[in-house]
Amino acid sequence: MINYIEPVFRPPSEGRSLILQVTNGCSWNKCTFCDMYTQPQKKFRARDEDEVLAEIKKVAAAGPQYEKVFLADGDAFVLPPRRLKNILLAIKEHLPWVKRVSAYCLPRNLKKKSVEELKELAELGLGMGYVGAESGDDEVLGFISKGETFDSTLDALLKLKQAGIKTSVMILNGMGGVKYSQQHAENSALLMNKAQPDFLSTLVVSYPLGDKRVKDGFNGEYELPDQRTLFLELRHLISCLELDHTIFRSDHASNYLALKGTLGADKERLLAQLDEAIAGRVALRQEWQRGL
Ligand SMILES: C[S@@+](CC[C@H](N)C(=O)[O-])C[C@H]1O[C@@H](n2cnc3c(N)ncnc32)[C@H](O)[C@@H]1O
Ligand code: SF4
Repeated sequence: MINYIEPVFRPPSEGRSLILQVTNGCSWNKCTFCDMYTQPQKKFRARDEDEVLAEIKKVAAAGPQYEKVFLADGDAFVLPPRRLKNILLAIKEHLPWVKRVSAYCLPRNLKKKSVEELKELAELGLGMGYVGAESGDDEVLGFISKGETFDSTLDALLKLKQAGIKTSVMILNGMGGVKYSQQHAENSALLMNKAQPDFLSTLVVSYPLGDKRVKDGFNGEYELPDQRTLFLELRHLISCLELDHTIFRSDHASNYLALKGTLGADKERLLAQLDEAIAGRVALRQEWQRGL
């Protein structure tokens, strides 16, 4: 029914959503750890508006199959408010049963968007922004060429919140390597404490196409942490979190251990589960079971 330009990525929680490819690729595409949109066919461009509207109508003809829509690819929030508004209006008109629309969002995507504009999009159904903060540590963010800082990420998360758009943040376990592990964990926790996101997930770094770009970015100082060091880093991150009501998950396929809970209420239980893993007392996902 829909012609995708593969590969297409979506957050695990959008597994049952209609994936609508309103952009192809990622407008930034420079993060050294990310190979998701590096193939030639994934060169960034906004999809033609008429093409997207035609796809929405095609899906509508099949009846109410989806309650959620995820706007792909890497940062659909990059589209100007007018384009996003037209897409949301078309979803409202042709797929009136859809309850929530979401997309990946880079902090820079919001720089020129006002809270008022975002509020209008929220009222039209844009309910969630998935923000790959990856780290709250400015040194690490510089090494990985994220093009964002602690402050720019915090500004974006607070702006979404102010507009009534839920925030789901991704932090990368292992992104500081061994040397920067502690400051990566502590500043990531600090960023989350200030932002108080609705959802927080941690993913474990993995480099199926090799880690040369990552190592070069760290001036050769990057060493992939072993499993125990990854757990210790995650434990340190969680122990530094002071969250009022954030749903936490580490159930992405990249993780060795799936954790789920609400922070702060479940903090002690999550730390105890990690202690069990560190002591080698729980079955972990094997390498072949992991993926991106
Ligand atoms: C498809 S990307 C899109 C995210 C969006 N462009 C952003 O940066 O906010 C989704 C997430 O996958 C994760 N990811 C990308 N490359 C990864 C890698 N090599 N290992 C683990 N996770 C990775 C990052 O957390 C990234 O934010
Ligand atoms: S992590 Fe996000 S911003 Fe960075 S290159 Fe990948 S898709 Fe683009």
